[in-house]
Amino acid sequence: MKPTVSVIKADVGGCPGHVKVHPKTIERAKEHMEEAKNSGLLIDYYVTNCGDDLELIMTHKKGVDSEEIHNLAWNTFKDCTELAKKMKLYAAGQDLLKDAFSGNIRGMGPGIAEMEFTERPGEPLLIFMMDKTEPGAFNLPIFKTFADPFNTAGLVIDPSVNSGFIFEIWDIKEHKMVKMSAPEEIYDILALIGAKERYVIKRVYPRAKLPEDEPVAVISTEKLSFIAGKYVGKDDPVAIVRAQSGLPAIGEVIEPYSFPFLVSGWMRGSHNGPIMPVSQRYAQCTRFDGPPRVLCLGFQLAEGKLVGPVDMFDDPVYDNVRVESAKVADYMRKHGPFEPHRLPLEDMEYTTLPKVLEKIKGRFKTTKK
Ligand code: 13P
Ligand code: 13P
Ligand code: MG
Ligand code: MG
Repeated sequence: MKPTVSVIKADVGGCPGHVKVHPKTIERAKEHMEEAKNSGLLIDYYVTNCGDDLELIMTHKKGVDSEEIHNLAWNTFKDCTELAKKMKLYAAGQDLLKDAFSGNIRGMGPGIAEMEFTERPGEPLLIFMMDKTEPGAFNLPIFKTFADPFNTAGLVIDPSVNSGFIFEIWDIKEHKMVKMSAPEEIYDILALIGAKERYVIKRVYPRAKLPEDEPVAVISTEKLSFIAGKYVGKDDPVAIVRAQSGLPAIGEVIEPYSFPFLVSGWMRGSHNGPIMPVSQRYAQCTRFDGPPRVLCLGFQLAEGKLVGPVDMFDDPVYDNVRVESAKVADYMRKHGPFEPHRLPLEDMEYTTLPKVLEKIKGRFKTTKK
């Protein structure tokens, strides 16, 4: 049995502003998914939201980059946008950057994470969804899970895990990618992925036990500003991570979120702030349109069926992380428009900043060297 898990997401309109997906939008998306399941196109699905992002979690047998599956997602987002327009939701259709579907949803605005793999006798699956941040936000937790022995005990004590993993890293500006091995190359891997605006972990592959051409983690890497040429909303990313039996345990996959690390993308896509791991109930962005949130749903896969979910951060053990995140949010906010709360210049190129410079350019006088 080789199921494909496809997580495809888009912001088709928020309520209010960029806070949350409207329940009616979710209902509409479910109708499309149910129809596709009844027709046999999907094995199973789960529809939810993280903040203002509508998340379609789908399983099927069509493989990655399937035209039928991408078309289903696109039509669902299109129809949900029509509904959002009728309800006058905010920025209806925000992430749908192209008009006509032409075979693949890549490059059209929605974020995509997909993988096809041989289903094991027990197949634990975690779906991560973030709002108000960017694909590189997954670099730190994914690295820790698959390469940091202080995070993942299995790297040290489980012989089926300790041969390490291969990281597929994308340069999302130059459209290049490189595969690097952990643990041998971890310093070089970190040299790249620490610059998370540009170098983004796209996939992780196993080195032992499991088929080496089947990914064990995949992250959406779409950058909306690179597609649209201007700031149009953020590239709020999603990730799929498999766990256990030759892979990090579930607890090792979510352990990195016990630290509210800083990510970019808060308020107008232009600020750094702490990630906050939240339950489905709190997957909504309020304070200063944030702070950035991460939601995680856990499933067992059974012949492609999604058994679950468990709302992984709906647990008091994460309360102290949320308190720390709120404290860091206070601290960062006190900087107002100053870096490093506001993003550095090179990351502001798609905002109004170039227009401000344009307006005053004639008033700059040359100074002495
Ligand atoms: P099981 O023995 O139930 O697979 O649990 C392994 C484990 O210790 C995970 O942390
Ligand atoms: P979204 O990308 O989630 O729509 O957020 C837009 C924004 O920057 C709100 O401040
Ligand atoms: Mg939005
Ligand atoms: Mg969003």
